[in-house]
Amino acid sequence: MAENLLIAEGGKEEKYALLYKQISAVVSAEDDTIANMANIAAMIHATFDFWWTGFYRVVGEELVLGPFQGPLACSRIAYGRGVCGTAWREKTTQVVPDVELFPGHIACSSLSRSEIVVPVWSGEQITAVLDIDSEHLATFDEKDKEWLERIVKLIK
Ligand code: SME
Repeated sequence: MAENLLIAEGGKEEKYALLYKQISAVVSAEDDTIANMANIAAMIHATFDFWWTGFYRVVGEELVLGPFQGPLACSRIAYGRGVCGTAWREKTTQVVPDVELFPGHIACSSLSRSEIVVPVWSGEQITAVLDIDSEHLATFDEKDKEWLERIVKLIK
């Protein structure tokens, strides 16, 4: 199954369009949020050459590490801290072309150069964030923001 889900052809738009369909299919067959986050992280990570792809869940006053693909990461992030905590506080997607220029960026890995963090909503509440790190500068743009915001809406 994993091989069948690897989307290697096409540009960013084509890859996201196909990825979205695949994620919709996988997620619609399963109700468990953690299972769906795990497969979403795996599918995004396998499609693009990202450094780290995963979720932090809102647990009380903190973000706690959830399903991810990539190297070891920080387990907990306080409200308003780093790019993840800022996305939670500001209730908006954060697109960071150069993490060194983002005040308070939390460097889980010194190899991460750019980042995008997308809030995951359940009704009026943010219940998690999707965090993606790249080893390259300015990897993420409006297209990533648009598609990743659509993808996280699939999480129930
Ligand atoms: N860089 C993030 C921390 C999480 S790791 O990148 C996986 C931040 O500043 O919130």
